[in-house]
Amino acid sequence: MAHFEKANSINEWLDQRIGIETLKKVMQTEYWIPKNINFLWAMGMVLAATFGILLISGIFLLMYYNPSVDLAFDSVNYTIMTEVGYGWLWRHVHGVGASLVFLIIYIHMFTGIYYGSYKRGRELIWLSGMLLFVLFSAEAFSGYMLPWGQMSYWAGMVITNLFSGGSLEAYGLVEWIRGDYVPGQAFLTRFFMLHVLLMPLVIIGAIVFHFGTLRLPHVNNQDGEDVDFEESARLWKEGTVESRRESQVIPFSPVFLSKDVFVMGVYFVLFFFLVFYKFEFAMDPVNFDPANGLSTPAHIYPEWYFLWSYEILRPFSKDIGLIAFAIAQVIFMMLPFLDRSPNVAPASRRGLFNIWFWLMLLDVLVLTFMGKLPPTDATFATIGAFSAYLFFALWIMLPIITKFEKKL
Ligand code: HEM
Repeated sequence: MAHFEKANSINEWLDQRIGIETLKKVMQTEYWIPKNINFLWAMGMVLAATFGILLISGIFLLMYYNPSVDLAFDSVNYTIMTEVGYGWLWRHVHGVGASLVFLIIYIHMFTGIYYGSYKRGRELIWLSGMLLFVLFSAEAFSGYMLPWGQMSYWAGMVITNLFSGGSLEAYGLVEWIRGDYVPGQAFLTRFFMLHVLLMPLVIIGAIVFHFGTLRLPHVNNQDGEDVDFEESARLWKEGTVESRRESQVIPFSPVFLSKDVFVMGVYFVLFFFLVFYKFEFAMDPVNFDPANGLSTPAHIYPEWYFLWSYEILRPFSKDIGLIAFAIAQVIFMMLPFLDRSPNVAPASRRGLFNIWFWLMLLDVLVLTFMGKLPPTDATFATIGAFSAYLFFALWIMLPIITKFEKKL
């Protein structure tokens, strides 16, 4: 065993044992961030902070939540909301956080798409990010089951029903997933386990992996500039005013982190404004009725962040719909491989790709709005179906338009 000198501080003691100084160097002071990035690059830290808040508020809710089909609804709507001191606050924080985390994920994703941050060298950042998207979707869906209201029950019924199409029916897949013929106690218990244990554990692992994938390729920048990190880091460390001005980078901590903290400050003002004054947007009124397997709500729809993919499934028959829905969930993963252009640059400088980007964003927004409307209106159903076809057409066109993109 190596000889350990007597340590003079806790830092030194930890450094001897787990190399804390090396870790700080790798993750903070010698982790270089390009200078030319805007506030959109703070969204990653905003996401990490929101996830932290979801974990803490979730732990407080868990102290009083009761995962039984007879008691779950009351434990949320009566015990937590009215009896437990500040229980309403934790619930609002958790609900608003769950909704905002998706808004920020979408902003973070589309920032990456706009600036080409998924290209050669950064594929794993993108793939681990998409994995996080899928995991957060599963986390949100399983959490939505827990209050055991009408929308929990019927959304659970509709989504698990997707697995009863075609030959899947013969395998009894839907019953296997539900643990019963209809959502019941076994269903609630397993979604409870997924929501409070399995998913959070996997998400934490995936976040650590996502951070790890950023370390070597470094984050991109808003001009797609090929930064010389070594030379720039040397110039920064030289420490003169001129050399630091010339350097293209700043250290993550404390210089860049202070910018992140500023953006987080602004974000949390909005966050708590919503928590205190506008929390209803994150709560569906239909879910304030207890689950009832004998009374189907007139219109069943998911939370806003799933509406675009829900709308993609609607125009198709059940089997094709399931395939379309599954493709929509993962197609964004394929982006680094479907974009054939080597250009790492903002979309505004990439010709046809710029049109592709804005059409895709608009299409996802239109799908989201159409997904909320009842399928009975023929005009809206047609617009929804057209947007679903456009979504797939855009993905088919992507390799073609990027293949012929001019090299910048
Ligand atoms: C809770 C989930 C997530 C957390 C905590 C997270 C965190 C971060 C952080 C801290 C960064 C570096 C700073 C920044 O660019 O903002 C980053 C970068 C990145 N993330 Fe995420 N992220 C998450 C989800 C996602 C998702 C869903 C995607 C989309 C597929 C994604 C794709 C990327 C990409 C491409 C970058 C590199 C940006 C660049 O190089 O400019 N992330 N993420």
